[in-house]
Amino acid sequence: MSTPDVELTVKGHKRLERNITLLGLFTLLAVSIGGIVEIAPLFWIDNTIEKVDGMRPYTPLELAGRDIYIREGCYNCHSQMIRPFRDEVERYGHYSLAAESMYDHPFQWGSKRTGPDLARVGNRYSDEWHVQHLTDPRSVVPESIMPKYGFLADTDLAVADPKANLTAMHMVGVPYTKADIDRAAADLAAQANPDVDAGDLQIRYPKSQIRDFDGNPQRLTEMDALVAYLQMLGTLVDVNSAAAQEKLATEKGR
Ligand code: HEC
Repeated sequence: MSTPDVELTVKGHKRLERNITLLGLFTLLAVSIGGIVEIAPLFWIDNTIEKVDGMRPYTPLELAGRDIYIREGCYNCHSQMIRPFRDEVERYGHYSLAAESMYDHPFQWGSKRTGPDLARVGNRYSDEWHVQHLTDPRSVVPESIMPKYGFLADTDLAVADPKANLTAMHMVGVPYTKADIDRAAADLAAQANPDVDAGDLQIRYPKSQIRDFDGNPQRLTEMDALVAYLQMLGTLVDVNSAAAQEKLATEKGR
């Protein structure tokens, strides 16, 4: 830039900075352009989350376990989002897809990893391991700094109104059917007790795991719910085929 140009720019800027009305107007203009560019496209695209096969709403028991996970603040030390970096994928498995947390209200991505990511912890350990680990983390991982949660196995699972929980989730967009909502309390009890007839639970909730989770079939405890939730994490979507589908769709240039 030649010297007169620079002088002109500096002069213009000086005027702008010293006139509060003008500065306000231009600030508004700059922010609006940014806002429109970010927000406007959302009104024209069909959806922001790629749908993938296998993702389903959580069963009432998993949902109760998730509530305990939130109540106990597990998210303060654990994330549930595997980032698409080589070191993460090698350690935790396929990176997380947006659809995998589409029924999480609120989502549990987390922002702190004092412990490992849990997005794909389901079926990685046995129920016994989880119960032992939650009861006394240092008995299985000597260097662990995770707190003990043994009281969960001594606390009966008390979900005040399972039907209301599902109804609330339905209101924020989770596609529970009328049957799911009507049978919420029965499903909750049946999933942790293989002796009870679970009806069509596994048809309405594919890949749901039905068994006693806490090693004590006599009682339905908070441990049952939390372990059921942990054992489900990352097991619903066949990520490799979902990612392949996504790639194919992108290549077709939709
Ligand atoms: C103070 C931080 C902290 C809190 C709170 C915490 N954890 Fe952990 N967690 C850890 C650490 C550190 C590890 C790694 C060592 C170990 O396995 O114990 C871990 C490991 C785990 C693992 C094993 C993961 C793996 O892939 O090996 C699970 C499962 C787990 N935590 C679940 C929970 C749940 C559920 C809660 C809430 C009830 C919770 N944690 C609360 C710190 C925490």
